[in-house]
Amino acid sequence: MSGIQSATATMAAGAVKVHDHWSSRMGFIIAAVGSAVGLGNIWKFPYMVGQSGGAAFVLVYLACIALIGLPIIVAEWLIGRRGQKNPVNTMVELAKKNGRSRNWALLGIGGTLAAFLILSFYSVIGGWAVSYLVEAGTGSFSGIDKDAAGALFNGLLADPAKLLLWHSVFMALTIGVVAMGVSGGLERATKILMPALGVILLIMVGYGMTTGSFGAAASYLFTPDWSKLNSGVVLAALGHAFFTLSLGMGVMIAYGSYLGQDINLLRAARTVAISDTVIALGAGMAIFPIVFANGLDPAAGPGLVFVTLPLAFGKISGGLILGVMFFALLIFAALTSSISLLEPAVELLEERTPLGRVGATVVAGLATWALGIAALLSFNEWSNVLIFGQNIFDLLDKLTSKFMLPLCGLGAIVFVAWCLDRESVRKDLGLGTTGFRLWNLLARYVAPIGVLAVFWNSL
Ligand code: PFF
Repeated sequence: MSGIQSATATMAAGAVKVHDHWSSRMGFIIAAVGSAVGLGNIWKFPYMVGQSGGAAFVLVYLACIALIGLPIIVAEWLIGRRGQKNPVNTMVELAKKNGRSRNWALLGIGGTLAAFLILSFYSVIGGWAVSYLVEAGTGSFSGIDKDAAGALFNGLLADPAKLLLWHSVFMALTIGVVAMGVSGGLERATKILMPALGVILLIMVGYGMTTGSFGAAASYLFTPDWSKLNSGVVLAALGHAFFTLSLGMGVMIAYGSYLGQDINLLRAARTVAISDTVIALGAGMAIFPIVFANGLDPAAGPGLVFVTLPLAFGKISGGLILGVMFFALLIFAALTSSISLLEPAVELLEERTPLGRVGATVVAGLATWALGIAALLSFNEWSNVLIFGQNIFDLLDKLTSKFMLPLCGLGAIVFVAWCLDRESVRKDLGLGTTGFRLWNLLARYVAPIGVLAVFWNSL
């Protein structure tokens, strides 16, 4: 049994014993928020906004979260809670029970593969955060200007040995946590450290207000220039909504399998989506004032956060300690996501091979680590190795976010909305007639048609 599962199951068992349903609900919501909030919010969201031209992307992203992401989180949890097993077996069983094809298992398989691919490059970025924790702690940011900040980041990218070292450290941490099954402790820590991350972001937003570019940043993020919108931007917004909410990977199905009936899925989904969105927008409001105040390029790409924040930490009083705290918390947030990404592959190996928990974790972890090496080499030695015109890092990112996640998420919502008995779904969601009508509208039509329309347009 997995760390996450054992922790959650233990908590649920404890809850049954003392009839304390609140603590198991909290444990679940914290684990789900921990999975959702991560590098996607602080590293990926701002640079995607920058590459996609600002507010038009942000508004489409928010619509995708509310109209497509929310119903799909609920659908994935509902599937998990009914199946009470790993995503592949859950899909096989539910499909059989409802007279549907066994091929629905593909959803679980595709999700597990997507999680594996994502973790390989996620760990490389987690490694950047570890490297920047060391830089922050050794005072590298003090008095730094934009050229020096750019040089520091480019120096890291150009150095495969350094990237490998930090990627390995991050992956070892992930493997350690999953193998030892200490996520019960992580859940408790998440309760304190996530809000702490929010507070530091708020301080950075406060710093942004002193730069004189806060208004420009706010209008960049929230006043849309619709001429920037095209199908590529919409697909990127949709893909990122899936990535940031940890959807389409079987992760939320697995989390749902440890839920009791007492949990209101809609309310829990709202909590996860709001926390996730607040952190992402907070990151945007922290970063873009610094971008504009220093004449940096918002479309600079994946290095955006790593080039901008050191500028602020280098100027602000107490910046050294703030920088250390920020990168430590970012690593923590990344770890609560990366453990959930390793989980599906570990579970699969545990159930389908003679490997035990530790063996399965080490094998899945090493395979991910090896693929991560290809991803990190695409920033230097292999920068001209292109597949379908993309380097390996970009290929892994785009293949998962733009195709695999939306398709698996689409499968989950179609399965719940069209293949399960409607009345039982209404009961599972605890909705009255009007609420269920609204759910049906979103789940049967808006979300699936939305995903399909975006695909159609992009193709
Ligand atoms: N949602 C995480 C983030 O935004 O950083 C990334 C992630 C975690 C994606 C877990 C998928 C997942 F299953």
